[in-house]
Amino acid sequence: MATQKLLLLPGDGIGVEVMAEVKRLIAFLNKTGLTAFETEEDLVGGAAYDAHGKAISDGAMGLAQAADAVMFGAVGGPKWADVPYAARPEAGLLRLRKELGLFANLRPAVCYPALADASSLKRELVEGLDIMIVRELTGGVYFGEPKEIVTLENGEKRAVDTQLYTTHEIERIVRVAFDLARVRGNLVHSSEKHNVMKSGVLWKQVVTAVHKAEYPDVKLEHILADNCGMQLVRSPKQFDVIVCDNLFGDMLSDVAAMLTGSLGMLPSASLGATDAATGKRKAMYEPVHGSAPDIAGKGLANPIATIASFGMALRYSFGLAEAADRLDAAIAAALDEGLRTKDIAAAGQNAVSTAEMGSAVLKALEKAA
Ligand code: IPM
Ligand code: MG
Repeated sequence: MATQKLLLLPGDGIGVEVMAEVKRLIAFLNKTGLTAFETEEDLVGGAAYDAHGKAISDGAMGLAQAADAVMFGAVGGPKWADVPYAARPEAGLLRLRKELGLFANLRPAVCYPALADASSLKRELVEGLDIMIVRELTGGVYFGEPKEIVTLENGEKRAVDTQLYTTHEIERIVRVAFDLARVRGNLVHSSEKHNVMKSGVLWKQVVTAVHKAEYPDVKLEHILADNCGMQLVRSPKQFDVIVCDNLFGDMLSDVAAMLTGSLGMLPSASLGATDAATGKRKAMYEPVHGSAPDIAGKGLANPIATIASFGMALRYSFGLAEAADRLDAAIAAALDEGLRTKDIAAAGQNAVSTAEMGSAVLKALEKAA
């Protein structure tokens, strides 16, 4: 069996609680002999700041570089609101993305039938929804320089962030989107704002060229990012794969999350380029939700986004598509049984704890094994 080295970075807040449920799944899979995961664990975010004075230590970065995949929980909280900008909890996440070269962020938004009523949209709009948002993750306004606040001669301040993309960065992310579309619904919406932004003009040109040269069999639509947000809420099932830059992807994936019922349901995979020599690619898996400090430590968090992120790790890093399918089915089974954490419970419905939801998924998985 190829190595299965997993680094667990639970982070802050509910990150710790939801990662605990993944640890139980790992133990179970190892026990069945299907996997032989070797796990290590380290700090990230505010927890790393408290221990080392930075959002991730060089040691933890080394472990991440050496791992076959990283499982990430969540970072941040009011406790670290005033730490220096470079050491803020989110900087740990951004450093991992950048230094591991995780340019492709896959954010599937799937509406489980049992949850169609938990969405803020009508059941008929979201039932059966299956969208894949492909977000560029290592470029754009998140990392472009200059990025600063300067004081002008008149004493006023001026802030600048830089939206920046090269041809190569756009080509490699849209190829990921087209490849995924081919094994899904064969439709890609490329979302940008070429009507206002030069980076949008280049984005559209490059997408059009890659489509024509390499993927003429896939249906391509260009859509302005603001319209894309509106269409996601108006009629989400028209979409299959949406590809966009880092910032639009951040926003559109939060919008898409609510279509599924709760931000607590949305997993993600962040992938690097495949190494030609080893055939391996760096990868990190994380829920789209944050550290939710308001409910942290209370056992109220929904572990499904993190469990489903682990499912994506099985699928994309370890070639265990069948096990990933079984895990997805176990999540659906737990929901079908009527189990709901607070975020997806209907008014008046009893909510279960993080661990109870984790147990229900584990039990369904055991039954299927
Ligand atoms: C996300 C988050 C992050 C982002 C934050 C925590 C830096 O919102 O993964 O969507 O903006 O990318
Ligand atoms: Mg976000």
